[in-house]
Amino acid sequence: MSYRSAYNIDDLHTLARKRLPKIAYDYLEPGAEDNVSLRENRAAFERIKLLPRTLVDVSKRSQKVTIFGKTYDTPFGIAPTGAAGIYGFAADIALARAARDANVPFVLSTASFEPMEKVAREAAGGTLWFQLYMSKDREAAARLVNRARDAGYEALIVTTDVPMIGNREPNLRNGWQIPFKLGVRNMIDGVLHPHWLFGTFLRTLLESGVPRFQNTDVNVGGRIITTDLSQFRARRDALDWSDFQWLREIWPHKFFIKGVLHAEDARIAVQYGADGVFVSNHGGRQLDGVQATIDVLPEIRAAVGRDKLVMFDGGIRRGSDVVKAIALGADMVFAGRAPLYGIAAGGQAGAKHALDLLRSEVDRVLALIGCPDVKQLGPQFLARHR
Ligand SMILES: Cc1cc2nc3c(=O)[nH]c(=O)nc-3n(C[C@H](O)[C@H](O)[C@H](O)COP(=O)(O)O)c2cc1C
Repeated sequence: MSYRSAYNIDDLHTLARKRLPKIAYDYLEPGAEDNVSLRENRAAFERIKLLPRTLVDVSKRSQKVTIFGKTYDTPFGIAPTGAAGIYGFAADIALARAARDANVPFVLSTASFEPMEKVAREAAGGTLWFQLYMSKDREAAARLVNRARDAGYEALIVTTDVPMIGNREPNLRNGWQIPFKLGVRNMIDGVLHPHWLFGTFLRTLLESGVPRFQNTDVNVGGRIITTDLSQFRARRDALDWSDFQWLREIWPHKFFIKGVLHAEDARIAVQYGADGVFVSNHGGRQLDGVQATIDVLPEIRAAVGRDKLVMFDGGIRRGSDVVKAIALGADMVFAGRAPLYGIAAGGQAGAKHALDLLRSEVDRVLALIGCPDVKQLGPQFLARHR
């Protein structure tokens, strides 16, 4: 089956699962511990019911949004995902190009394999934002942040929900660790997935060599088979608001915090000069047992006020999820796994297909709820939220 025959994100997910060896799939899909928050992100969307209006002229529909003076074709973009290169060849570039072609923003992760400068060159013309994992080493962090500035990244998104890596047991069981060790079981499994073996694994080795973390603040360029990431994560658990304040001072462009679930934290971030917040529970991959992000969104929207941006991620699999999040106050919505399913299923074209599917679903939902323009979305289109 080709990605072209996928009618929805779930079809792409099924295809990705078939294509990927277990060790790669298990890094992509599961949440932390018992997957409570991973499931809850979806369950909460399903609990929220739409409330359509009828006999509204919806013959001209628009899902365009304008953020920082740039107009995007649809109110969602691609969330940062580390190690995406294990799902497809040069996946960071493929994702950035898919986003550019769909006219939506792309957020490059600190834990990506392609140098940020190369991504900026290869996906020129698109909107690129950089997601920062910062260690406590400010000198190293400043070097990285300056690289992002010089490469033309328009916004910095500092992720703060990883003081320690979440407890993702399937990865431990599979021997997924950095430095990476293949092991016989993983090798056999790789051979049993020829599409991935030739299209991603061997192609990457032949054309780019062993993947490296090219965008970290320490150990830059460390190979994933030799690098000890403990230094990269050094004292990340010691970060506090003073580091956030310092980052705000050295970064000249738009500035966000990612991983906010508490309204008070959102308020503090704004006080320290953030242009907005990303409401996110890291796709359920960090602290298991936290609420669904869609359930905390309205409170955070209220806390930061209308003149700051509220971005949202967690559980986006359908256009109706995008519509619900916008109706509950998000300015823009980001998808993490959905475009990665596309990458695994069909590279850049597969990722673009994922974005196109979501976009066409948003369009249909707008027509069916009687809302011709995403700018008119609000709680009036949701049952029990009016
Ligand atoms: C494989 C994978 C890797 C991720 N890596 C990062 C990362 O490097 N930095 C980050 O801030 N968030 C990372 N995230 C979290 C996403 O940015 C986003 O918050 C989450 O995926 C949204 O949930 P969704 O996957 O249900 O759309 C990652 C998520 C996945 C699935």
